[in-house]
Amino acid sequence: MTNSMQNKENINMQAPFVREICEITYHMWSMGWDERNGGNISCLLDKEEVAAYVDIEHVERTLPLSFPVPELRDKYFIVTGSGKYFKNIISDPKANLGIVRVNETGDQLDVLWGLRDDAVPTSELPSHFMSHIERLKVDPNHRVVMHTHATNVIAMTFVHELDEKKFTKTLWQMCTECLVVFPDGVSILPWLVPGTSEIGRQTADKMKDHRVVIWPHHGIFGTGASLDDAFGLIETVEKAAQIYMLASHQGIKQTITDQQLLDLAQAFGVTPLEGILGE
Ligand code: 13P
Ligand code: ZN
Repeated sequence: MTNSMQNKENINMQAPFVREICEITYHMWSMGWDERNGGNISCLLDKEEVAAYVDIEHVERTLPLSFPVPELRDKYFIVTGSGKYFKNIISDPKANLGIVRVNETGDQLDVLWGLRDDAVPTSELPSHFMSHIERLKVDPNHRVVMHTHATNVIAMTFVHELDEKKFTKTLWQMCTECLVVFPDGVSILPWLVPGTSEIGRQTADKMKDHRVVIWPHHGIFGTGASLDDAFGLIETVEKAAQIYMLASHQGIKQTITDQQLLDLAQAFGVTPLEGILGE
């Protein structure tokens, strides 16, 4: 057997993009964020890295897209399957993940690997694909869209005003590192029915100038140049929300001041989203 054939046989174990998504989804489930089938991930892959492990000339089946994405034509993604449990991806990646390519007209998906037993990509594919389109416009290094049911972020959407600027400021005040990790703040949608093109369009609209979009009483979307990058962003927002949920009902006696946040921004060379800190 040639090396290339062995690679194609052993994709479950060898492809770094499969291994990484297996590890991170198991970790996210362990954090308690991804109950049952909660959460989904899509990651943009290079044609060459896919071709090293998968026969890209062989299309296993095609799936129609109800929301055409010509901007993503000929792009390759690894995606989580709809209804699949993050807990189980690590033990059976081929059943729970898929490698897909958007066709030339952007209205169909070629399934190249995985999504065994007629599984389909996440029901949140409209939000993922439309967000990829917007993030790629502003960040050529962008690759990952990650959605998860981060516990304390959801809790905070019940007890904090849903004003984006006020929400962002509260999060910045909860841990000193927050402003450095997300100086662009968080955005918040109104409550919407998930899995629709409408929530996809509204999420992507926020992604034009944010990397984090919160869906009240549901979860969070984070984006980044790698799985670690998107995960680290969500983890930091979730940690700040956890501190808020621990501290707020005790009666907060002091907090990080606006001046201290401005000093922090200057020291770390970041520009805080305008209109939040008193100048
Ligand atoms: P999927 O199983 O279709 O990915 O849906 C999970 C989810 O979190 C919906 O918002
Ligand atoms: Zn969800």
